[in-house]
Amino acid sequence: MSVPARTTVAIIGAGPAGLLLARLLQRSGIDSVVLEHRDRAYVEQRQRAGILEQGTIDVLRACGAGERMDREGLPHNGVELRFDRRGHRIDFPSLTGGRAVMVYAQTEMVKDLVALQLAEGGPLLFEARAVAVEGLEAGQPSVRYVHEGREHTLACDFVVGCDGFHGIARAAVPSGVLRTFDREYPFSWLGILADVPPSSDELIYAHSERGFALLSMRTPTVSRLYLQVPNGTDPGDWPDERIWDELDLRFAVDGDWKLERGPITSKSVTPMRSFVTEPMRYGPLFLAGDAAHIVPPTGAKGLNLAVADVVVLARALARWHETGAADLLDAYSDTCLRRVWRAEHFSYFMTTTLHPDPAQSDFDTRLQLSQLHRIADSETAAAELAQNYVGLPFE
Ligand code: FAD
Ligand code: PHB
Repeated sequence: MSVPARTTVAIIGAGPAGLLLARLLQRSGIDSVVLEHRDRAYVEQRQRAGILEQGTIDVLRACGAGERMDREGLPHNGVELRFDRRGHRIDFPSLTGGRAVMVYAQTEMVKDLVALQLAEGGPLLFEARAVAVEGLEAGQPSVRYVHEGREHTLACDFVVGCDGFHGIARAAVPSGVLRTFDREYPFSWLGILADVPPSSDELIYAHSERGFALLSMRTPTVSRLYLQVPNGTDPGDWPDERIWDELDLRFAVDGDWKLERGPITSKSVTPMRSFVTEPMRYGPLFLAGDAAHIVPPTGAKGLNLAVADVVVLARALARWHETGAADLLDAYSDTCLRRVWRAEHFSYFMTTTLHPDPAQSDFDTRLQLSQLHRIADSETAAAELAQNYVGLPFE
């Protein structure tokens, strides 16, 4: 593929943020180049999030990337909170004015966006590693990258760092400019994929004294399950039988519900972290998605926040492109951070309410259970959870 030496928007990273941004910009007639460090197969197979908020669903449909999602995704109208051996259903549409979520794996969304970009969009380079962002102070931004063993420079009007938490874009901002906020949690998630139909039609978030567990799914025949484990856990210490036995104990409920077992096809451990960068912009460099903020996965917000950021940015760039006005670009960071901090709070709330901290006292456990009972008993408390879970509307 021939790549121009200059583009309007240089996008670093082909995760959900970078790919969707490229798609939205193209729909507004703005050219971009996407540089991705990894190869296509890696990007399309990396197991991550599974829940799309209503706003994310709407955006994918509106930009012509929702066709397979609508065919194969699983609309979900609620979740179950399970604690004290009982389940409590939270109904989304009745508590949120008709909003809901969709189970559609991040891997599938990425595959759809990659295919569209390659067929209809501007250049998308795999195995192209950005090594430096330059010229920010001089107002002549460019990205230096390595592709097929050679170094290249891509000049542009704007650089967007969609390169995830470990990317280079955030680090290109001079020290002292950005302020970061950080919290690490004293536990991780052991996630598995199993070839077995999900044992529940809806997700189950389970609080137990042995630790948190989550039942999710990818398709009607593939289950996705998570167990709270200590930080530093080696998945090798968790043979399949041990995982199923522990899941059985944490999902235990009065009544005749049973967790079906099947072959486990993947195991991985994810640490839990909250992280926010302020502001999300430095001159012509914008940060979006995990490059700017991280949430623990308990609220299912990470992917959806990445989508929300690039929707705001694409609108701002479209306005600049059409009229020359920079007002929406100037407002980008503040606009995004309002939503980011709401999601940070919700993810923190879900995490600390559902996971027993290894060091916590019986008093703390009683407070968690009291909070969960409140959600189960009060429509107001349930509505607060439901509205956060399905996500704020994109204005
Ligand atoms: P990413 O998806 O991280 O994409 C960044 C891209 O940039 C990557 O493709 C990377 O290869 C590329 N890149 C990095 N550096 C460079 C460079 N120098 N040059 C070029 N390219 C570069 N969220 C949930 O809601 N539920 C979950 O269960 C869940 N599980 C997760 C598990 C893991 C292991 C991780 C890391 C995240 C998980 N998340 C989950 C969060 C969610 O997946 C992310 O919020 C989402 O992927 C953010 O999208 P993004 O495009 O901002 O970043
Ligand atoms: C997932 O299906 O991977 C998933 C679902 C809900 C969460 C986190 C992860 O809160």
